[in-house]
Amino acid sequence: MSKKKTILDFQRMKEEGEKVAWITAYDFPTASFAEQAGIDMILVGDSLGMVVKGYDGTIPVTMEDCISHCQDVRRGAPNTFCIGDMPFMSYQTSTEEAVANAGRFLKEADMDAIKLEGGRRVCDQIEAITDAGIVVFGHIGLTPQSSGQMGGFKAQGLHVDSARELIKDALAVEEAGCEALLVEAIPPEVTEFITEKLDIPVYSIGAGLPCDGQLLICGDMLGMFEAFTPKFVKKYANIAEVQTKAFEEYVEDVKSEKFPTDDHVYHIQDSEEEFNKLFEEFN
Ligand code: KIV
Repeated sequence: MSKKKTILDFQRMKEEGEKVAWITAYDFPTASFAEQAGIDMILVGDSLGMVVKGYDGTIPVTMEDCISHCQDVRRGAPNTFCIGDMPFMSYQTSTEEAVANAGRFLKEADMDAIKLEGGRRVCDQIEAITDAGIVVFGHIGLTPQSSGQMGGFKAQGLHVDSARELIKDALAVEEAGCEALLVEAIPPEVTEFITEKLDIPVYSIGAGLPCDGQLLICGDMLGMFEAFTPKFVKKYANIAEVQTKAFEEYVEDVKSEKFPTDDHVYHIQDSEEEFNKLFEEFN
């Protein structure tokens, strides 16, 4: 079993050009498979709202939801660097609330870091959480919690003016104390520029190759989330198809009494005669 990585390992991996592979996970089995597969780190994303709970977006997700799923993931992946995602309104309202909620991810769910969305507008929170001794991952570009302001789940930084704002945000969150930055759904040219400009590791979800590693949402890459698939997703499996087919076969087997067979039952240990006597007692 490999040793749990720390933020220093991720810094070294950036310096040595070794890419980081991370996914989201929300439950015990997925986390344990990820750890067995050698995934470098796990994000317990507030995307759980869509992938696990069937909401349209991440807005309804609560601190209690996030803490509970972080606990499940930690039990499944005790030796993997895990990041708790701060849900909508758990850090926007004040620096005090941001620090208190960030702390809960460490105290109650044994997370190694937290992630929050936004650039310059959340720098006070990043500074305060970092000052409390907590590792903070930034997240800019397509930030799902503010998709309303963006007019939907849309790629960002496609034009010079918006790319300039992204670069300013990236520089600001590093300055505020972030120890890594996730860029989502931005062009690879902008990703590359930000990655070269920043000393901290820069990771992509839908932001191309030229950076320090890649993140995918487990439901997307496993083919389990059918509501929509973003352009940037590569599907490594089609679990929805496998699962639905298995359920269909089960229904068919139950209806036709092909299941259970003799292999699937527990056999009596006393004689049939003794059991018949027992049944008679109740007749
Ligand atoms: O919640 C999440 O999974 C995320 C990704 C979209 C990056 O924040």
